[in-house]
Amino acid sequence: MRAIICTRYGPPEVLKLQEVEKPTPKDDEALIEVHASSINSWDWELLSGRAQFTLGGRLKPRYEILGCDIAGRVKAVGRDVKNFLPGDEVFGDISGSGWGGFAEFVCAKEKALAQKSTRMSFEQAAATPQAAVLALQSLRDKGKIQAGQSVLINGAGGGVGTFGVQIAKSYGADVTGVDSSDKLDMILDIGADHVVDYAKQDFTRSGQRYDIVVDVVARHSVFEYKRALRPGGKYVIIGGSAGAALQALLLGSWILGNKKAGLLLLKPNPADLAFIRQLFEAGKVVPVIDRCYPLEEVPEAFRYYAQGHVKGKIVVKVR
Ligand SMILES: NC(=O)c1ccc[n+]([C@@H]2O[C@H](COP(=O)([O-])OP(=O)(O)OC[C@H]3O[C@@H](n4cnc5c(N)ncnc54)[C@H](OP(=O)(O)O)[C@@H]3O)[C@@H](O)[C@H]2O)c1
Repeated sequence: MRAIICTRYGPPEVLKLQEVEKPTPKDDEALIEVHASSINSWDWELLSGRAQFTLGGRLKPRYEILGCDIAGRVKAVGRDVKNFLPGDEVFGDISGSGWGGFAEFVCAKEKALAQKSTRMSFEQAAATPQAAVLALQSLRDKGKIQAGQSVLINGAGGGVGTFGVQIAKSYGADVTGVDSSDKLDMILDIGADHVVDYAKQDFTRSGQRYDIVVDVVARHSVFEYKRALRPGGKYVIIGGSAGAALQALLLGSWILGNKKAGLLLLKPNPADLAFIRQLFEAGKVVPVIDRCYPLEEVPEAFRYYAQGHVKGKIVVKVR
């Protein structure tokens, strides 16, 4: 089968299209014919070596084939697989299952997968798993989102943020999206009530207060976040600078008082994928796809990703 192979850390040029052996599923795995995959920040961090001491391997990426979001068709199942049959259309985040989405076939554990909606294209399904589940878990599990609350999403125009805006709206929240100027129209189009251009305005100094701040890019100090939260408000960190995250974790409860700070730790699971699928079928969440690249152009896709101007997600069309 054809796959994009990554044998060392480096720029997108280290990625090579190669013929490799088709994998065989273990007892608890399904063999999936991959139709589409997508790029997440974790792929970039693994490729570039920024995740060397977290997700990575010390000297080279732990996974030779990157790509943790997939959508495709089940071709075979191991003997312990209960919920899928050959022919099923599935999608999932296989970061806990050995990665390997930038290839024509991949084996994934059953618990990483959910049935794809027949109304979802493979491209839409591949754009969804990791970003949408991060957004859902930050708003629902950490933020305890309620209808009528005021929610700010910092980094609203990227992969996670575009799902965050739509999921928060589906809960009936009043949503503010913060991002760069060229993404603000899109953020309004997907349902945000207000937008802030981070280059022109610091939302922590605007005088506005929020019940939940979900932060994809954590750049401010806890003192600054405190100004932006209502009494009892919650600050949820998904990603960003390690310093800001550490400060919020160590000093958050002391500085924030009756406001709370929490770091989200992603827990991929089929139930949350099914929940997102329902939101999609109800027309409440539609993945925002900036560009699609064929498998052989994955290096070009990463070059575009690295420029940092992606609106929503980049999809890799494998088939
Ligand atoms: N907690 C977990 O378990 C977990 C798991 C996986 C990933 N993550 C984290 O999730 C994050 C990835 O999110 P993503 O895929 O949505 O990234 P993304 O697609 O790169 O989106 C980030 C967005 O933030 C914007 N941005 C940059 N600087 C900003 C600022 N100062 N203020 C407001 N917005 C700003 C970017 O716009 P411009 O580029 O135009 O400025 C971009 O639209 C990473 O930090 C990753 O480490 C966390």
